[in-house]
Amino acid sequence: MRSTTTVTPAPPEPSAALPAASPARHEATDVRCACGPTRRQLLRGTGAAAGALAGAGVVAACSGQTPSPQEAAESVSAAEPGTVVVALADVPVGGAVAAKVGGQDVLVTQPTEGEVHAFSAICTHEGCAVTPGDGELLCPCHQSRYALTDAAVLGGPAPEPLPSIEVEVSGDDVVVA
Ligand code: FES
Repeated sequence: MRSTTTVTPAPPEPSAALPAASPARHEATDVRCACGPTRRQLLRGTGAAAGALAGAGVVAACSGQTPSPQEAAESVSAAEPGTVVVALADVPVGGAVAAKVGGQDVLVTQPTEGEVHAFSAICTHEGCAVTPGDGELLCPCHQSRYALTDAAVLGGPAPEPLPSIEVEVSGDDVVVA
């Protein structure tokens, strides 16, 4: 006599049903932060949670990858005077261009011909990379906007201007002053 057996698939283990740990998400949008919790999220968390993350090296790892806007600006400003940031011809009049100095992202602006400024490109809101916009600087994460002349906040949630970096025109280039 043949017996029949019905095989019912086992339900997934609870841990398998949970999504894998994912990087932190900014709250206002679905933007993922590349280095885990933001500083703001850590500050909002409990002391124990922040302590656990710090103990695991998370805070140190992130601060190494994503300096604060001020730290980034200070790092660039500490570069050898005369260090070329970008060719002046590459900076649009009435606009800006992104550049790197010593591994740090900077924005060089030229509001009027021959008037140049440079700023850290790290948004003062939650640290996203600010980009050249249309006659302004724009953070794509939550739409903070900054002025070309002094990086003053024109709109959005950014709490303060982008830190400035002293630069000057030398010959055909914009250099660290
Ligand atoms: Fe939120 Fe820039 S990170 S506006």
